[in-house]
Amino acid sequence: MTARRIDGKAAAAELHERVAGAVRNFTQAAGRAPGLATVLVGEDPASAVYIRSKNKATAAAGMVSFHHQLPETTSEAELLALVDELNRDERVDGILVQLPLPSDIDDKTVIAAIDPAKDVDGFHAENAGKLATGLEALVPCTPLGCLHLLRAELGSLAGLDAVVIGRSNIVGKPMAMLLLGENATVTIAHSRTRDLPEVVGRADIVVAAVGRAEMVRGDWIKPGAIVIDVGINRIPTEDGKGRLVGDVAYDEASEVAAAITPVPGGVGPMTIAMLMRSTLVAAHRRAGIADPEGL
Ligand code: GUN
Repeated sequence: MTARRIDGKAAAAELHERVAGAVRNFTQAAGRAPGLATVLVGEDPASAVYIRSKNKATAAAGMVSFHHQLPETTSEAELLALVDELNRDERVDGILVQLPLPSDIDDKTVIAAIDPAKDVDGFHAENAGKLATGLEALVPCTPLGCLHLLRAELGSLAGLDAVVIGRSNIVGKPMAMLLLGENATVTIAHSRTRDLPEVVGRADIVVAAVGRAEMVRGDWIKPGAIVIDVGINRIPTEDGKGRLVGDVAYDEASEVAAAITPVPGGVGPMTIAMLMRSTLVAAHRRAGIADPEGL
């Protein structure tokens, strides 16, 4: 059996289109377009690529993007001053401070300083707490993208066994909360989990978010499971360019799973589409307009 390849690029393109339509409606109703501010400290090449795609997608959706590029030497106080300015800027509905930050800036302090109503990353404790308690929240974009793909694949997730590998605040924990919200039975596995292959082998849904190249092997997967691979790892190749692989050994897992996301072209594009959606949602809530429907 060869697994269905879940096309995250196509799903993201469809969502971008719907968001762009809803942006036009918002702009007409509110008299202004939604705005997203991105902040990049330093010149990490991978982060610079992500930020460029985010800004491109923002403009393509008809939203306004405000990009702030700060030098590597920026102090925490300077970054906090910028966040404060963006919090007070009425044109800005979403604030995204790209992580990781330079080591002398405390990311927890910066995240806590972002107005929760503009926290389109969903990293602020207020949003994490709202998600965990079932209140209306801004939700981290990567797990939201995974959930979108899972729903498209499965319809209802109720009663299914889901294993999330990884317990980060960005992916693992919010992913588990979203799956619980869908009435799945959720296990969070991590580096200290005993007998990970056995735990994974029970799952109808596997979400791998550990950041270790091809760690999840094909013979761990239960036949017919749905596999969502959040990992993006560059492995060396002979030509020196390197190759992107996920946290799951794709070819092996394809032999066993019912459906699997490729890397690249799976979860990655969905993350950016969800960022656009969250910016639009934040704009509606800030403007006191009901959330857009059908997204
Ligand atoms: N770095 C890696 N992923 C993310 C993300 O989703 N948001 C931000 N702000 N930084 C990241």
